[in-house]
Amino acid sequence: EKGGYDHFMLKEIHEQPKAIQDTYRGRLLREQAIIKMSGVEDNMKRFLNAKRFIIVACGTSWHAGLVAEYIFEDLARIPVEVEYASEFRYRNPVISEDDVVIAISQSGETADTLAAIKLAKSKGAFVFGVCNVVGSSIARETDAGAYTHAGPEIGVASTKAFTTQITVLTLMALRLARAKGTISSSDYRQHLLELEMIPSKVERALLSDPLIEEIAYKYKDSRNCLYLGRGYNFPVALEGALKLKEISYIHAEGYPAAEMKHGPIALIDENMPIIVIATKKGHYEKVVSNIQEIKSRKGRIIGIVTEGDVQVKELADHVIEVPESSESLSPLITTIPLQLLSYHIAVLLGKNVDQPRNLAKSVTVE
Ligand code: M6R
Repeated sequence: EKGGYDHFMLKEIHEQPKAIQDTYRGRLLREQAIIKMSGVEDNMKRFLNAKRFIIVACGTSWHAGLVAEYIFEDLARIPVEVEYASEFRYRNPVISEDDVVIAISQSGETADTLAAIKLAKSKGAFVFGVCNVVGSSIARETDAGAYTHAGPEIGVASTKAFTTQITVLTLMALRLARAKGTISSSDYRQHLLELEMIPSKVERALLSDPLIEEIAYKYKDSRNCLYLGRGYNFPVALEGALKLKEISYIHAEGYPAAEMKHGPIALIDENMPIIVIATKKGHYEKVVSNIQEIKSRKGRIIGIVTEGDVQVKELADHVIEVPESSESLSPLITTIPLQLLSYHIAVLLGKNVDQPRNLAKSVTVE
């Protein structure tokens, strides 16, 4: 059932090229330059009249929501707020009938997310679900939605659910951007083309597995770890840190790289591994100067870089190369080495990768 892999998590990491493709199959019609999503099409008025989108989710799904915030604002020029469902439901939020609430959940059973949906509905908002499990409570409770087609995710650490959520949300943003006229026809076509190239790029990113295992061996005994990224890759840094925490029990934090000097830089010494997402498109030079600051404090740098990178290679202790992509799609690729890194560290430490202590696959109690 693990398809020859030692763990479900590793199997699910490797399933991502196919899962992403399954998620856009039948929706992305590149030759006609069309995105077909009935849940969006049938409710186009609500989406286009929305004053803002509020995304509610927990954990990894919340991180996918943060990536979506960048995409929706960037491409479709719709203001987006991303909320932890647990905070949203209890803080008397301002919600009106003009709001579109997007609930993201792999399982479709997360108690806090479900409660946030009920609250939003009671205030008259239109609620759209992005779920993986067909017929789940959240899928049933929402006004409309779009499924991710990731297939069953068994490992408690979410991997393919995350990348397929981003895929669905990207399709939505592109469709709405086209309808609103906030994207040019050539940019739109370019995005469709690039999205179709993602599965093979993820495939290539997976080839770094043996190198990542070697790096994991060097850092497995660390007590702390920092993950840094900027722009679209800031949420990826958060997700990388969560992945490490939950399966290896090593304390990790994700930060926007520029925030480092507002506190976390005090933690840096020769024992601190810092994983920096430093791909070519999107704030590259700024991230390089963040890396220089880490280096001068003797931090150990693991750079996630674009193939052929020169600058970061000179500064970092290790680099893991990933194929180049547009900035907005880069989270689908940069997240891959971070998943593999946590996986290998957890395995080397002898942890129960698929069922980490204290965690359940779906959190049906608050
Ligand atoms: O099923 P959901 O997407 O609603 O679950 C939300 C979180 O519980 C989940 O993403 C959790 O953070 C994962 N274990 C992270 O890997």
